[in-house]
Amino acid sequence: MEQGSQVPHVIIFPLPALGPVNSTLKLAELLSLAGLNITFLNTDFNHDRLVLHSNILDRFASFPGFQFKTISDGLPADHPRAGDRFMELFDSFKLVTKPLFREMLSSGQLNSVTGESVTCIIADGILSFPIDVGHELGIPVISIRTISACSFWAFFPIQDIIEAGELPSRGHEDMDRLITSVPGMETFLRLRDLPSICRTNNLEDPNLRHSAYANRQSVQAHGLILNTFEDLEGPILSHIRSQCPKVYTLGPLHTFLKFRLESKNASLQSLAPNSIYKVDKSCIEWLNAQPLKSVIYISFGSITILTRDELMEFWYGLVNSKKRFLWVIRPDLVAQKDGEGKIPMELLEGTKDMGYIVGWAPQEEVLAHQAVGGFLTHSGWNSTLESIVIGVPMICWSYFYDQQVNSRFVSEVWKLEMDMKDVCDRVIIEKMVNDLMGEKREVFMKSTVEMARLASESVSEGGSSYCNLNHLIEDIRLMNVAAVK
Ligand code: UDX
Repeated sequence: MEQGSQVPHVIIFPLPALGPVNSTLKLAELLSLAGLNITFLNTDFNHDRLVLHSNILDRFASFPGFQFKTISDGLPADHPRAGDRFMELFDSFKLVTKPLFREMLSSGQLNSVTGESVTCIIADGILSFPIDVGHELGIPVISIRTISACSFWAFFPIQDIIEAGELPSRGHEDMDRLITSVPGMETFLRLRDLPSICRTNNLEDPNLRHSAYANRQSVQAHGLILNTFEDLEGPILSHIRSQCPKVYTLGPLHTFLKFRLESKNASLQSLAPNSIYKVDKSCIEWLNAQPLKSVIYISFGSITILTRDELMEFWYGLVNSKKRFLWVIRPDLVAQKDGEGKIPMELLEGTKDMGYIVGWAPQEEVLAHQAVGGFLTHSGWNSTLESIVIGVPMICWSYFYDQQVNSRFVSEVWKLEMDMKDVCDRVIIEKMVNDLMGEKREVFMKSTVEMARLASESVSEGGSSYCNLNHLIEDIRLMNVAAVK
């Protein structure tokens, strides 16, 4: 192991949403286990919530070279940072966080526990400004994207899609048109499967422009880390490598960390969920009392917002299916106006008989529970990977951003789910739940079992993610040697 200034010091700067924070924390732990000094830079807002609801400080206390630092995201404390207002973060990052980050780096505020300056920045590529700041200060930057390779690649040619005249959409009835300007997806990617930011008539829309720019800029970094594995996304990764030769696929990160801790006989206690909501573990007791594979689990991740009508459609669909269900309804899941809060008695009765609702669940534990037989998900990438690893088939109702692409791949390419895209209707929900929990289960189980096996293989000794982590650590050490010289 390196001594003193020989030890590389890496700043890890995630996108401030739960999924990305969770997966980058797993990377932080893997790099800490390899003996690197790590500074995890989180926004004040997310750090405070993490500390409040998780054991995050204990989890990293055993690494003497690890520290948390925080930075402002520039938004007022009462800003929701969810739903369609999530994108407002990007303006405030530019105005407030970028100059702060530069100042913190150059003034030594981000030096390691033992005082060393930063030798490598690993930052979410969608933030984009850490690459500029790294270039200005001469610090190598590696981008990390915690979305799938397929969604990263669908964002990449947005300008080409526009120039080919395939955007904007020509209305509702145009949504099934095939998009031919995304290499590798010409035969199955429809307009409705493009990232949701493409659903605009305004080609100068700032969100569209920012995403087009930031995804291209990601590859200006020294390398690109993706939370995926070669057996899942190999063909798309070949396309990405044509633009960015150094791609480190390290996924599924949560399984990788679990395997690494097991192999070191380290405590799995450190895997306790990192949550920005209070976890309600009572659902595990409820699951314990349910028959094998009888429950469908429903969760839409940390930033989806449902309208009240959508909530009602899901609820009726679930109750009418007569299947058992466990549903995560976050306190801020529904955009609710005053006076609309009354839930019909038939739903409450149906839920009492067959369902259980929590504000936030221990999701990985839930998915692994023997009573769970299906997952109705928003197709966030972390939820998708967690489901793939355990081998639970899915129904996808994608909400926004990368999720539209994920759900197309999960249904059409990997055959692990049914895609409910753009439909939120109680009759369809009831039918899909019945299909997934009934006769179609066996069809999906074949591909889910095989994909789960490949996911485990990738993070085991000699697997692709296992080898790529070694390459990443070697490259970070080489950057450090260059910095010391
Ligand atoms: C966001 C984006 O929305 C998503 O599209 C992108 O792919 C990643 O960033 P989020 O919406 O939070 O993420 O979804 P997801 O990526 O699925 O992450 C949710 C995380 O919260 C998962 O790790 C899941 O295990 C956890 N979770 C969710 C819980 O622990 N408990 C719950 O009740 C619900």
